[in-house]
This record gives sequence, structure tokens and C-alpha cells, in this order.
Amino acid sequence: MSAIFEILDKDAGGRIGKLRTLHGVVETPAVMPVINPNIQLIPPKDMRSFGAEILITNSYIIYRKEELRNAALEKGLHSLLGFDGPIMTDSGSFQLSVYGSVEVTNEEILGFQEKIGSDIIVPLDIPTPPDVQFRRAEEELAITVERLEAARKFIKGKQLLAGPVQGSVYPELREKAASYLRDLNFEVYPLGAVVPLMESYRYTELVDVIAASKKGLSPSSPVHLFGAGHPMMFALAVALGCDLFDSAAYALYAKDGRYITANGTYHLEKLNYLPCSCPVCSKYTADELRKAKNKEELLGQHNLYVTFAEIRLIKQSIKDGKLLELVEQRCRAHPKLLDGLKRLYIHSSWLEQFDPATKGTYFYCGPESASRPEVLRFGKRLERFNLEGSAIIRTAPVKGEKEYDRVLAFKAPFGAFPVEMEEVYPFNAEVPKFPDYEALSTALSNTIKLMDLNPGAEFTFICEKEFEHPLIEEIGKKAKLVYREDWRKE
Ligand code: GUN
Ligand code: ZN
Repeated sequence: MSAIFEILDKDAGGRIGKLRTLHGVVETPAVMPVINPNIQLIPPKDMRSFGAEILITNSYIIYRKEELRNAALEKGLHSLLGFDGPIMTDSGSFQLSVYGSVEVTNEEILGFQEKIGSDIIVPLDIPTPPDVQFRRAEEELAITVERLEAARKFIKGKQLLAGPVQGSVYPELREKAASYLRDLNFEVYPLGAVVPLMESYRYTELVDVIAASKKGLSPSSPVHLFGAGHPMMFALAVALGCDLFDSAAYALYAKDGRYITANGTYHLEKLNYLPCSCPVCSKYTADELRKAKNKEELLGQHNLYVTFAEIRLIKQSIKDGKLLELVEQRCRAHPKLLDGLKRLYIHSSWLEQFDPATKGTYFYCGPESASRPEVLRFGKRLERFNLEGSAIIRTAPVKGEKEYDRVLAFKAPFGAFPVEMEEVYPFNAEVPKFPDYEALSTALSNTIKLMDLNPGAEFTFICEKEFEHPLIEEIGKKAKLVYREDWRKE
């Protein structure tokens, strides 16, 4: 028997995987378009043509409306929606978080999801919002955990059961919840109550919530970021180990006249041009789209096209080992996302364990790149170099270097390493000719560390005049420091 979730490729914390459900296999990362059983902007049967392999709908909305409920019970969820692929159902927890209560119990809604043939069932968890006191977060988490334990005993068939991780913005609660739920063996782990964080661009906290939850979970479990539907943050979330997303955004934004791109959102009213080549944007001008009778539907279609294009780009980036380059590009779309990127690299030491030992060429894309897991790993492994005798460190070949016992290349943000490794990953990195302050900080401190680790060696450091950095003075105390233009002048 094959595993329910199988990981095929990895990059940073991101992965390409296969999730097996009763209605077929889904390749992750995947976005599930949210289907509102009452209002269908785009019919579920058409969702495949945009790239959707799995949908998500709300079982509580179906349950609450007699005619939908009876239809779902009689012919099943898949016939009701007219989609024969995998369908995940939410429980009404979101309504609970918006309206304060729901008219259904955990057991009732679980039983209903089971009966109508949902592929991924969600218990009635409590989405505790940000900014509540720790006590409340803790108390609500205890109820959520109780309901999840009940759900685990209740759902025993082939349908997959999701175990939402709550805990508000308290990393310690998230990690504790996650590690407790890990042992209950849910098939999918959604991270809950993150919508308010995303709505107010609180990406720093979002990154911490994801990282804390992931630390408690098994790395081999699939993780769903509940309510995340904007493509501009997919790459960041994937790099942290999220595998599933759901998008109501494609429809909600369309209703509002908003045009999604991977770098942010435009108001259709303010667009002079359509910066996209999807079938909608190829057929219409901005003006025509504004005036179209089915404007909302067309906008919804465009929003879906760009959403799935981003997922494909992310998957290709994972295959190429270039996911972090994509994350760094995307996070430059908004200063708050840039804060999220910086936060991601605060977790580099944790991410490093998932990052492949060798992959696509490292590209330096800006000061944040200096804190990437690959760079951190090099710093951790400096002890592996054993140097004796005379050693010269230089950025490019210099006259007479063969006279030294060891020749080391210097490349920021890494530092100094044996020149024989120059073409080897990660030292084959593409970096700017003139390193910035952050790259030099890391490279020079690694070089100092290397010198301290090898007190038996006698170092000569060939410095570039552009290297303006306080650590140069420090290097001067441990090595013979010569500026390149002064080196062996005739
Ligand atoms: N949809 C958005 N957030 C949540 C959540 O925390 N729990 C559930 N069940 N659904 C959600
Ligand atoms: Zn388009």
C-alpha cells in the first residue's frame, strides 16, 4: 500500500508531493478553489481547465439549507457539485469565527461530511483570532483538541481526516498543539485562524505561526494553510512547508472588481493595461473587460489562471532548486512581505535540515540572501577544513599564489574555502561583483572563524578596495592584509 502523502522533491522547507484521496491523487503544492454551493461564479466542472485538481466547499452551508442537505444526502457531494475529483469540506468553523456560534455539533457535522462522501473531513475546530489573551487561546485550544480527539475516534473509514492546528499567535501554543496532534495521526494538518493575519499583512507573525506549527508536526505530513488564496504569498508559505491552499479570493476579489497578480492586486477601474497573457487578458483590453456584461465571471477566471500559474512556477522552482530565489522576488512586492522574508531566514537554522545538500546554483538576490540556509550551513561546517602552513585568501587568482601551501577563494556571502571547490555547489553561486554590507558581514565573520579554527596556518588576505567593512580590521589582526592593487608591485 502506498502512503497517503508521498514527497517527491524538496527545496528549502518546500516540497512537491502526492496526496492520495478516494477520488484521486492530488499533486502538491495545490490550491483548492472554494466553491460556495449557493453562488457559483465558475461551475465546479470547469475548475479542471484552470489547473484545479481538488476543490473545497463548506459542509455547514450545505447542511443548513434543507434542499442542499437533502440533495447531498441523496446523491452525494460529488454529484451535487458536479465534480468527480477530490473535494475537501470545511465544518462551519469559519462561520463560528465570524458569527460567534453555529447550529451544529462536532459529531453532527462530522457525520454529515462522512455521509455525503467528502474526501477530506474537517472537525469543528475553534479558530482563535490574533490579539486575544494567552488564557483564552489556551482554553479554546483545549476544546479544539477534545473535538479533534473525538473526530479521530469517529472517522475510521478511507476518508481523510484533517486536524487543524490552532493557538492564535502564540508560537509555544502552536507547537504544543501540533506535536500533540501529530500523535493522533491526522491525514492532513490545516493551520487555522491565519486569515486575520493575512488580511492585515502581518507576515512576520504568519511566518512564526507556520514555523512553530511545522516544528511540532511530522515533516512527512501534508499541511494546509487555511484561507490562504493570494498567489503573492504562496512561495513564502511553500518554502515554510505548506502544501495546500484554498482560494475564495479568486471569487471574492472578482466580486469587488479586483484583479489579482503574483505581485499584488489592482483595481480593474484603475487598470489601463492588462499585464497578463491568460485567455481572458489575451482576448480583452482593460476597457473591454470593465464594460463586459460578465465582468465578474471573467475577472474570476483571470484570478484563477494567475493563481494556478503561480503554483506551477513554484513547483518548477522546487524542481530546479530555485524556490528561495522565487520567494525573494515575491517578497519584494510589498514591504510587509519583505518583513516576512526576513522572518523566514530567522528560521534558517531549522530550514537547513530540509534543504537538499546539493541543488540549483545559488543566486544572490539582495541582502536577505546572506541569511539563507545554504549560507548558514557553510558557516556550521567550517570545522571540516584543516589548514596548515601558508594560506592565501583571494577573490580572484593573483600572481605567485602557487607558492602558498593552500589557496582559498573568497566569495561573499560564504567566505573563504579551498579553491578546488570553486565550481562545486554552493560555491558556484552567482553573486554580484561588489558584495553589499550584509554579504560581507557573513563572509568576513566566516573567514575570521576559519582563521580561529586553524591557528597553525599563516594567512594572507588579498583585499579588494571596495570591501569597506569594520571586520576588515579584525582580519588584519589575524592575517597579513594586502590590498590587491598593492600586491607584488614591480
Ligand atoms: N477557514 C479559515 N480559517 C479556518 C480555521 O481556522 N478552521 C476552519 N475549520 N476553517 C477555516
Ligand atoms: Zn489574465
